[in-house]
Amino acid sequence: MGGCLSLSICMETYRKEQIMPKWCPATIVEKKIWTDGLFTLTLNAPDVSPFEPGQFLQLAVTEGDERTNRPYSVASPHGDHLEFFIVLVEDGQLTPKLWGLSEGDTLEVAERAAGSFTLKKSPRSDVLWLLSTGTGLAPYIAMLRTPEPWENYDKICVIHGARHKTDLAYTEEMMGYQQQYPGRFKLIQALTREESEGTLSGRIPALLENGQLEEEAGVELQATNSTVLLCGNPAMLDDMEEKLGQRDMKRHRTKAPGQIVLERYW
Ligand SMILES: Cc1cc2nc3c(=O)[nH]c(=O)nc-3n(C[C@H](O)[C@H](O)[C@H](O)COP(=O)(O)OP(=O)(O)OC[C@H]3O[C@@H](n4cnc5c(N)ncnc54)[C@H](O)[C@@H]3O)c2cc1C
Ligand SMILES: NC(=O)c1ccc[n+]([C@@H]2O[C@H](COP(=O)([O-])OP(=O)(O)OC[C@H]3O[C@@H](n4cnc5c(N)ncnc54)[C@H](OP(=O)(O)O)[C@@H]3O)[C@@H](O)[C@H]2O)c1
Repeated sequence: MGGCLSLSICMETYRKEQIMPKWCPATIVEKKIWTDGLFTLTLNAPDVSPFEPGQFLQLAVTEGDERTNRPYSVASPHGDHLEFFIVLVEDGQLTPKLWGLSEGDTLEVAERAAGSFTLKKSPRSDVLWLLSTGTGLAPYIAMLRTPEPWENYDKICVIHGARHKTDLAYTEEMMGYQQQYPGRFKLIQALTREESEGTLSGRIPALLENGQLEEEAGVELQATNSTVLLCGNPAMLDDMEEKLGQRDMKRHRTKAPGQIVLERYW
């Protein structure tokens, strides 16, 4: 009875925090601009509770008595400093305010992270495919900075789809993994609106279909050997789920194991 009551209080607290988070103060310690409108904010936010790499936090900016908040994947593991990889949506409500902030400015961040887009909730396999478009790369950066993916998968392939070469953030960090883990880590970048040496041309689902992704990765993407995480543009998620379905792959659920785990940004 007591257990039931405390569980229901816990569930109620969890629900309330999703709707109305408890806010913590955060100060911008670094604003890195990758290209105009594409940036990483590093926040000093020591009051944020521990979370799993891949989870998201709400960020909020208050003007007058109006608070605007949105969810953002944390691009770093838990620590005093937290990174967020953000794109300016010009007619958006929050991102123009975030883009306008500078080092030393303050904002608010939710105390507790949420979401189940984590390696703990993903199936084990030989190959881990981390597929993203745009800022959907963020949760993978957090995961790769922890021992977890390296301990649980033989091979890790990061696929990052973007419009232009200048949108390809975190390249240096990931090239570092390629050197550190030769044969075990592969970064594949794909551009859709220009051609550039060292990158594939085209959208990720088309590159799976025409065989270029697997050729570049040097490994097959099959239900028997792969776990696929998908993050970013919802159209990419839908197209990929369809293509992976043709390979007998389906969404992973605790009670019905599959191979695909998704994070939909809008
Ligand atoms: C779980 C989760 C995690 C997220 N993590 C990130 C993140 O790490 N980085 C990030 O930049 N955004 C992320 N987003 C999106 C973010 O929450 C906001 O929707 C986005 O920043 C736009 O906010 P806005 O108020 O400026 O625009 P809004 O007024 O809310 O307009 C939203 C519209 O902007 C477009 N849009 C939203 N997000 C993106 C995006 N990332 N790339 C391209 N177009 C977009 C879509 O057309 C969407 O309908 C995440 C969303 C979810 C649900
Ligand atoms: N430098 C920047 O990135 C930047 C800077 C300032 C503002 N913005 C604004 O931010 C917003 C988001 O731009 P974004 O480029 O970050 O994100 P995006 O529009 O989601 O595009 C990211 C990548 O996803 C691809 N994509 C779209 N649909 C797909 C699908 N069904 N399957 C596979 N791939 C798919 C895009 O290809 P396609 O090119 O074929 O669509 C592109 O390569 C836009 O409003 C943009 O104007 C961007």
